[in-house]
Formats: sequence, structure tokens, C-alpha cells
Amino acid sequence: MDNRPIGFFDSGVGGVTVVKETIRIMDKENIVYFGDTKRVPYGEKTPAQLLEFSKQAIGFLLNKNCKLIVIACNTVSANCLPRLKSIYNNIDIVDVISPVVEEAASTAKHNIGVLATRATVKSRAHEQLIKKARPDLNIFGIACPILVHAVEEGFYDSLIPEIALQKYCEGYWDKNIDTYILGCTHYPVALNAIRNVVGQDKNIIDPAKSTALQIQKLLEMKNILAGNATPGYHFYYSGGSENFTNITKTLLGLKEGQYTFTLQG
Ligand code: DGL
Repeated sequence: MDNRPIGFFDSGVGGVTVVKETIRIMDKENIVYFGDTKRVPYGEKTPAQLLEFSKQAIGFLLNKNCKLIVIACNTVSANCLPRLKSIYNNIDIVDVISPVVEEAASTAKHNIGVLATRATVKSRAHEQLIKKARPDLNIFGIACPILVHAVEEGFYDSLIPEIALQKYCEGYWDKNIDTYILGCTHYPVALNAIRNVVGQDKNIIDPAKSTALQIQKLLEMKNILAGNATPGYHFYYSGGSENFTNITKTLLGLKEGQYTFTLQG
């Protein structure tokens, strides 16, 4: 047993979608989360900037004595994973792209749309991994940067993400996409809007589920699952407004006294 926390980080509130699923399947784990709200969006940053920001976030989480690091951000997973794994080679790091490969390869029929940030689309990380398992699939990266802002602003259930997505998908309606990967951890928050635009019948893959299962598998394998009767959830954010706190509370439906929020930096 190991009651040290699991550490998560993202550019903002998006990674909370992965935390939510983690808490759902492992209710005895302490969690520390860092949302870099001062520097969101990560999708418009260079790989060098992303690496620098990730090193700062991981350094922070290691100072909080985390037993495992979860990169709850596709943009960082897509652009920095090998580098981060080689820098921090004495702690396990879970990303949010490798866990979706199996589900994508086993459920997609012909054509996949990866809804993601510009930096993730540019990296073609999903395509490279999925094609190893299913070379027959066609994979289209569709950058949807406004969705991150719509979620950070709390406008996820409005017409704003729907109108933006209509525009972003304009060139793809003739591609017969049967499966969409939510290739940004912010996007599951706007799932209703996404379904309204891409169609209710489409296969939609949210990385949160497979990532949480991956975390569980790793903790079991290493025999470091926690046994906290009343686990604590500690959220840190680097700037911005009250939105981070309010949206996180809404998404997780946490009880008073179970969590803390701290402005960091
Ligand atoms: N939620 C992140 C991702 O999964 C970052 C989005 C952003 O800040 O642009 O890519």
C-alpha cells in the first residue's frame, strides 16, 4: 500500500476529466492536480515551451511527494512524452494518448477524426500510434482551439462550441468519419455540443476511461494502490479567474472539506 498522492497536470481544467474517471474507479487515492491556467492554451505553444512548462509542473508534483505522474494533457503527451520519460526516469509517467490506441483500433471502422489542439494535430501522435495497430484506418486531425477557451470560460453547454466546431469540421463532412477521438482533455466537458455537431450516432472516444484504467493497472502491478478512507483532492492553479475552482467543483461534484484550491505562482 502507498498513500502518497497521484499527480496530474494540464494547461487548465481539462485534465479534471481524467481525475474524475480516476476517482470513480479508485476512491481511496489522494490526488494533487496542477492546472497552468496562467499559460493556457498549451495548444498554441512550441514543443520547447511545452517541455519547459511540463518540467515545472512535474517538479512541483514531485515536491508534493507524488508516487505517479499523469500528463492529463494531449498536447504535452503528443509533443514531450519521450523526453519527459527520459528526464524523469525514476518515476512512472502515464500519458493520455497511448491508452486510447486499443479502443480506437478495436472500435473504429474506417475513418477517425482526432479533435485536438493545433500542436497535437501538428504532431500526428495519434495517427502514428493507431496506424501501428490498424494500418487500414484513415486518421484526420481536426484542430479546434476555441473549444479549450469555451471550456475554461464555462461556456461548454452553449452555442459557442457548437458554432466553432461546425466551422472546424467544414472540410471533413465528406470523409465518412465513423469515430471521433476527443484528443484534448478539455473536450469531454463539451461533449453535448460535440455530439450535436458530429452526430449522435458516432463512436466517440474519451481518453479519460482508458487512462484511468492504465493508472489503476500500473498501481496494482507495482503494489502501490492507496487505502485512504477519506482521500484528499488538492488542486493548484497558476492564475486566471475563479473559473478553475468553480468548473472543477461542478465537474467533480466534490463534498465540502474533501478538497483544497490554491493559487500557485
Ligand atoms: N487539455 C490540453 C490537451 O489535452 C491542453 C489544451 C490547451 O491548453 O490548448 O491538449
